[in-house]
Amino acid sequence: MDIYEALKERRSVRKYTSDPVPEDKLNRLLEAGRLAPSWANKQCWRFIVVKDPEKKENLASAMPKDNPARRAVGETAPLVIVLCADPEASGKQDGKDYYLLDSGLAMQQLMLAANAEGLGTCWVAWFDEATVREACAVPPEYRIVAITPVGVPEKQPSPRPRKDLSEITYAEEWGRSYTG
Ligand SMILES: Cc1cc2nc3c(=O)[nH]c(=O)nc-3n(C[C@H](O)[C@H](O)[C@H](O)COP(=O)(O)O)c2cc1C
Repeated sequence: MDIYEALKERRSVRKYTSDPVPEDKLNRLLEAGRLAPSWANKQCWRFIVVKDPEKKENLASAMPKDNPARRAVGETAPLVIVLCADPEASGKQDGKDYYLLDSGLAMQQLMLAANAEGLGTCWVAWFDEATVREACAVPPEYRIVAITPVGVPEKQPSPRPRKDLSEITYAEEWGRSYTG
C-alpha cells in the first residue's frame, strides 16, 4: 500500500474481530513509530503494549462510559498500545510543549503502518490519566498522551468529513486565498 492510499484509507476503528495481531505485524508498527522525527532527536516517547485482558479492562475503566472507543479498548481489540512521553526529554518553545508533537508523530506513524498492514487503530485521549498510570505502572515523570486499540477491523468505517482545502490553506499570508 502506498503512502497516499494509507492516508486515504485510515479511519478511527472502534469495532474489531477477535483475530489476533501477528507479532511480525506488531513489530513493524512499533518500528514505524520508532522512526518518527522528534525535538533534537530526543525520542521522548515510550509505547506500552497491553494484551492482558484484565489490564485492558482497567484501561477501559479509565475512559468515560460515553467514550465511543471504550469497548474496543476493554473488550474487542486483541491489544492496546499506551503512548507515554517525558516532557523533560523534549523541548519547549514560547510555551509550546513539543513532547505532545513528538509523541503524536510517533503514534501517527504507527497508525498509518497499521493501516498498511490491514489493521485498525483509534486515537483515544479522553481518559483519566491517573487510572491508566496505575494500570500500567507508568512512572510519574511520564505523561500518558494517548491510547490506541489495535486489531483487525470488523468493517471499514465510512470516512468522516474534512474541511475543504480552501478553508485551511492560505497563500503567502493569513487570509489570502490559495488557488493552487
Ligand atoms: C487527539 C485525539 C483524541 C481523540 N480521542 C478520542 C477518544 O477519546 N475516543 C474516540 O472514540 N475517538 C477519539 N479520537 C478520534 C477522533 O474522533 C477521529 O479521529 C475523528 O472523528 C476523525 O475520524 P477518523 O479518524 O475516522 O478520520 C481522537 C482523535 C484525536 C486526534
